[in-house]
Amino acid sequence: MIKREITKNSKLTVYSINDADLQVVQLLEEAQTAAQRAYCPYSNFQVGAALRLSNGQIVQGNNQENAAYPSGLCAERVAFFAAKSLHPEEEIEMVAIVAKPKTAKSFKLATPCGSCRQVMSEYENQQTKPIRLFLLNEKNEVYESESIDNILPFKFSDKHLKE
Ligand code: THU
Repeated sequence: MIKREITKNSKLTVYSINDADLQVVQLLEEAQTAAQRAYCPYSNFQVGAALRLSNGQIVQGNNQENAAYPSGLCAERVAFFAAKSLHPEEEIEMVAIVAKPKTAKSFKLATPCGSCRQVMSEYENQQTKPIRLFLLNEKNEVYESESIDNILPFKFSDKHLKE
């Protein structure tokens, strides 16, 4: 398998989907299904997220927009909030995120926005294991990060609130 290092510490890798674990391929497919149902009449940009929980359950989310633009929410936060409101005791093991303009035929790489990284990081901090993140680009390559911490260095967290 050819794995290219994206960052020096090799916590972020990219490889062909043909080399991905079946669980990862399935989670990316779940994210694609979710993206097709996105409510995005303003941006026409469909984003889908799928989470694998520690009990094996999959939770999907997609972006939900609003005529009052800032009231909308990204796919990742829809999925994370749904997962944690329905299954507060379960850990989130993996998240797959895909995106595409509505009229495009294939999915293209989109990296999570800062607010979503912050939200994902909040839950990761409460868990015993890190959340593995998977993205997909237009060439059917998988981008993998071994944790959310890895894509949000120097972050704000609950430890800053303590005296
Ligand atoms: N979007 C997401 O769902 N996730 C991200 O991480 C970035 C952006 C959505 C928000 C909005 O509905 C559309 O993509 C265009 O910004």
